[in-house]
Amino acid sequence: MTQKDFLPKQYADLPTEGKITWKAPSNIALVKYWGKKENQIPANPSISFTLDACATTTTVTFTKKADKTGFSFDLLLDGEPKEDFKPKIQTFFERVHDFLPFLKSYHFKIETSNTFPHSSGIASSASGMAALSLCLMDIEKQLDSSLNQQFFNKKASFLARLGSGSACRSIEGDLIQWGMHTGTAKSSDLFGIQYPYEVNEVFKNYHDTILLVHKGEKQVSSTVGHNLMHDHPFAQNRFKQAHGNLDKLKSIFSEGDLEKFIEIVESEALTLHAMMMTSMPYFILMKPDTMEIINKIWSFRKETKVPICFTLDAGANVHVLYPEAVKEKAIQFIQNELVAHCENGHYICDRIGNGARKLN
Ligand code: PMV
Repeated sequence: MTQKDFLPKQYADLPTEGKITWKAPSNIALVKYWGKKENQIPANPSISFTLDACATTTTVTFTKKADKTGFSFDLLLDGEPKEDFKPKIQTFFERVHDFLPFLKSYHFKIETSNTFPHSSGIASSASGMAALSLCLMDIEKQLDSSLNQQFFNKKASFLARLGSGSACRSIEGDLIQWGMHTGTAKSSDLFGIQYPYEVNEVFKNYHDTILLVHKGEKQVSSTVGHNLMHDHPFAQNRFKQAHGNLDKLKSIFSEGDLEKFIEIVESEALTLHAMMMTSMPYFILMKPDTMEIINKIWSFRKETKVPICFTLDAGANVHVLYPEAVKEKAIQFIQNELVAHCENGHYICDRIGNGARKLN
């Protein structure tokens, strides 16, 4: 598919008003997306677990307006106007307008709320952009009833990508790949796809306990971080490595080989942060407590053989991943040993999920 496939047909009559609500989850990458080309095209393919508990709920109320000259919208977070989020939505509307030409015909009231606290250090851009894209797709579906479910999800993912790259992996569950990779049939740079190969039962109810090590704003945004991959001395090897890791994951997923899974997931997390540390300018997002947690996970795994591992986002928080079968042991270890490293002892118990859903 190409971009052109997402241009809509002529619409019939536009409804005068309506209201739609979608809830979209966050996701955690196993193979990381870090580095992009123009137009939100990823420099390498990535794969993620769709989460369940960490999610954004967005309600879009739309009312037809007389003039079609510009975008008109109000944005509310937890019922309060949120002016500083508006430029991001404005940019998003500009990027997707060709694909959703009705955007200038309405005034939109966008009401959004997250299940996780705004200041938790968990980015809401993936779940937020996914939820908004699904609401907009729902409007398009009202204008063109011939849209099938498969196209609906693809285009929602395509739109979400233009809002925030990793958001394209937050439409469906439970294992999503985004980015062209010769080893994965039907993979695309334009949208995420459900992983098309066999996935062992052991991955079915995977847990992700998110340890909130540092809840403040990041010092370096992911937009800046992605851009620093342009002249990065290790960029080409890193991109190659991501392709290689996706190849390796194929048999790991089908056989349920947790030892090898852990090796790739932890290496990917540390490589992401190694790219940050070797950018120019360089930066470090991990905190001393991030390191303490990693070391404790390694010791615990060595002593007990419990297959628990970590991954990291672009921040100091640690995602602790483990299969359903070791849930009790893992939770006990987390509570006894790791929670002490969290800011105010805060953590979130999440797990692999089935993707976004429409409410009301
Ligand atoms: O979607 P963005 O532009 O915020 O980038 C997210 C990048 C990482 O979270 C660090 C990795 C990933 O693949 O999700």
